[in-house]
Amino acid sequence: MKIMITGGAGFIGSHLALRLLQEGQQVVLLDSFHPYYSKARKHNQLERVLKRDDVLFYECDILDKEKLEAIMLKEKADAVVHLAGLPGVQLSLIDPASYLDINVKGTGNVLACAGEAGVKHIVFGSSSSVYGEQAGVPLQEHMANGKVLSPYAASKFGAESLCYAYQYMYGFQLNILRFFTVYGPWGRPDMAIGGFLRKLQNGEEITIYGTGTGRDYTYIDDIVQGIWLTLQSRDSDVYNLGSSSPVLMKELLQELQQHFPDMRITYEASRKGDVTSTWADISKAKEKLGYEPNVSFQEGLRRTVMWAKEYAHLL
Ligand SMILES: NC(=O)c1ccc[n+]([C@@H]2O[C@H](COP(=O)([O-])OP(=O)(O)OC[C@H]3O[C@@H](n4cnc5c(N)ncnc54)[C@H](O)[C@@H]3O)[C@@H](O)[C@H]2O)c1
Repeated sequence: MKIMITGGAGFIGSHLALRLLQEGQQVVLLDSFHPYYSKARKHNQLERVLKRDDVLFYECDILDKEKLEAIMLKEKADAVVHLAGLPGVQLSLIDPASYLDINVKGTGNVLACAGEAGVKHIVFGSSSSVYGEQAGVPLQEHMANGKVLSPYAASKFGAESLCYAYQYMYGFQLNILRFFTVYGPWGRPDMAIGGFLRKLQNGEEITIYGTGTGRDYTYIDDIVQGIWLTLQSRDSDVYNLGSSSPVLMKELLQELQQHFPDMRITYEASRKGDVTSTWADISKAKEKLGYEPNVSFQEGLRRTVMWAKEYAHLL
């Protein structure tokens, strides 16, 4: 199979590319090196993949529809995994227009160009944020109702809706995957674990916002496995990809303390836009894809801390 990954220089995209190559698939990557976080980090992530000489990379902004269409028409991929996007809740409160541009309009471009190029399967990387504030219950796919807390989440919910419109227009297989707080080596520096590790490595204090928060942290290898299973599936559907084992912030801090005994913490009020907690119901992905997360939080965090210590200069 020839698989194009948009956002291929990103955290999830670069891990996915390596896994697909291991599976013997042909991989085409596309990314604009958006400066949301360090471009140097994205180049490092991409380099890990490009070391393999059988990978093609295009530097392209998904908002440049003409260029995107020319690439899609040339490559004629069997499937597109669309991960390019502007992530992060907090920046979306300050600059919502960029989220609408990249995550909604950009997704529309990807869908239209893929449709014109005859792509048969689209996998869209959506987010648990589409569930809004529904704390304390396992979130099932039908529970997303558009009542979200941030422009980031709204842009993902809107993009999901566009996916259905283009599926209707072009008839491709559509899978929407809602990722739950992905972490691991090369994890995004703006997310809690990535940000904490950078500070802890530098001996700096970490900041916790709000109380009683928790996340369904999901190890990167489990997410990649879920995407690979989806690429092999034959039915259009929407799936949660999570671990279904929410971790409270205080539990995350206890785990981190094992690795950084001198850790210093400050507490601040909760921030607008952040939901209190998330908890994925993954029964549909288990049943229909055979998805089974198998990296425990303790083990995943241990591997991530080992990576952070080895790559401290790149954090
Ligand atoms: N990491 C998570 O926990 C998580 C959770 C839910 C959803 N997601 C979604 O999964 C996708 C991948 O997330 P990630 O954590 O790997 O983020 P990431 O920022 O590491 O990767 C996204 C990539 O998209 C690229 N990009 C941004 N704008 C672009 C544009 N206009 N044209 C082309 N490329 C562009 C960026 O340069 C980046 O390399 C995103 O859409 C994100 O919203 C991630």
